[in-house]
Amino acid sequence: MNAIERIVAYHQRTKHHPRRYAAGPGYMDWENQPDPFRRFSDSSSIDLPLAADQLKTLYADLDHSESITPQPMDLQGVASLFELALAISAWKSYMGERWAVRCNPSSGNLHPTEGYLISPDGVGPGAGIWHYEGEFHRLELRGEVAEPAWSDAFPPEQFCIALSTIHGRESWKYGERAFRYCQLNLGHAAMAFRVAAAALGWRATLTDGLGDDDLIRLLGLEPWPLPLPPEQERPGLLLTLSSNAADTPLSEPLEEALRNRSESIVWRGQASRLTTEPLREWTAIRHAHEAAIKPALPLQTSTPPESPHPLACASRLRAADLIRQRRSAVRYDNRSSIPMPTFFRILDALIPRPGVSPWDLFTDTTRIHPLLMVHRVQGVTPGLYVLIRNPAVLDDLKQALRPDFLWKSVQEAPDHLPLYRLSVGDEHDFARMVSCNQDIAADGAFSLGMLAEFDSSLTGGAWIYRRLHEEAGAVGQILYLEAEAAGYQGTGIGCFFDDLFHTRLGIEALRFQTLYHFTIGTGIADNRLETAPPFAHLSR
Ligand SMILES: Cc1cc2nc3c(=O)[nH]c(=O)nc-3n(C[C@H](O)[C@H](O)[C@H](O)COP(=O)(O)O)c2cc1C
Repeated sequence: MNAIERIVAYHQRTKHHPRRYAAGPGYMDWENQPDPFRRFSDSSSIDLPLAADQLKTLYADLDHSESITPQPMDLQGVASLFELALAISAWKSYMGERWAVRCNPSSGNLHPTEGYLISPDGVGPGAGIWHYEGEFHRLELRGEVAEPAWSDAFPPEQFCIALSTIHGRESWKYGERAFRYCQLNLGHAAMAFRVAAAALGWRATLTDGLGDDDLIRLLGLEPWPLPLPPEQERPGLLLTLSSNAADTPLSEPLEEALRNRSESIVWRGQASRLTTEPLREWTAIRHAHEAAIKPALPLQTSTPPESPHPLACASRLRAADLIRQRRSAVRYDNRSSIPMPTFFRILDALIPRPGVSPWDLFTDTTRIHPLLMVHRVQGVTPGLYVLIRNPAVLDDLKQALRPDFLWKSVQEAPDHLPLYRLSVGDEHDFARMVSCNQDIAADGAFSLGMLAEFDSSLTGGAWIYRRLHEEAGAVGQILYLEAEAAGYQGTGIGCFFDDLFHTRLGIEALRFQTLYHFTIGTGIADNRLETAPPFAHLSR
């Protein structure tokens, strides 16, 4: 089988079905749960200041992020970036158990994503490769670089963030399906960085010029060949950050320079072990990983069509507060409805606009389209709807879905919002059932599945399987924040019966596949849990 056939085989075998879930461990080996925090021993580290509280930017200001005055890219600025993207946002406890939750969500709260700062002199703690250690909110010097050649590679007011992922943290609980979850988590984290950067007056863009091999060298990860122990970090994403004031938003020369200079990095520190016993290796994940190795790519510049300015955001919260209060609801009230303008605003926030935050995170084409199961939105008839995030897909989607779907533009929606009603009816039972019988999908105001343009996208390379999940994760991240901004809550749903959803929609082949589900509504707080502030355990 070629790489595309192998990744499609992985996708097919890791579908959940009502009577047959994807292969998993079948039990929770609590004794050997992976540590969600990695540390590098014997490396010097810098405690990051707790700086995000001082950021005055409102969440609503992010709609005009290009006009936000850039913060300096000093230690305070970089500390705020990590605090709002990856840091602990609260400690929860119940019956003697205590666990951290963070600004970025993660399937099972297992946090497979690790973050790195790749900086020149004058940015954050200075030149080097720095690992973000989340438990104590500090940067560990992982790679020492040869100056001044290293810093000379960076255009003014630019640096990079790299993300890696640890399959074993997720497969410990989810087995074979975990490779998908790792990519969704990467998308969430990348979008968390994009939004945090916007609050600081900076831009952040995925930079595909470096392939997996380059990223392995740049981060000092274990090289191929596979198999590698599942607790090893694997390359994820590279983001270039630049200040709104800089006029070189994306630079291929930086990527080339980083590639050339990675040979001279001197590695410091030993990665901590995450478990006492070796984690089980899932062969299907190894095969997916091998098939979906990402090559270095030329700069892509796919520009979405123009769209009017985003609909008004009702939130008066500061971005830093909203980001840190974001939580997944574990129950919804199955009663409250949300107003129509709120619904339209949430959907409008998913529409990419040329050069505008947050969807300027991606430079490749938009391929994820939410298929909504609307339960309780005032003035919107319950039923199935679809939001087309890239108009070029409309005809294909019409052909792929059931011929009796209505495809009626929603009259009440603003003209520019490509929202179509497909059918009218009560979708509570279907939403619950398709989400592995989870009530959250029925008890919110609406839930959705994210349809990806699937087989046509993969013709560009098996690695695009990862990108599709990353885009879906990024959509999930904006849904979480938009729900919070409107006074509601969201929950990502990784457990769903793939083909049950496809069958209901009439999807027979692999032209479209659902990759991630989500629900939004009025959450019910779990009052049994105690909540403590995020950094009470730090001395600073
Ligand atoms: C990719 C992904 C899949 C998830 N799947 C589910 C799910 O199927 N059911 C659920 O109740 N929560 C799900 N969640 C929510 C996580 O359980 C939640 O993010 C985690 O417990 C951390 O809590 P927080 O989001 O409040 O920080 C998912 C989250 C992510 C990012």
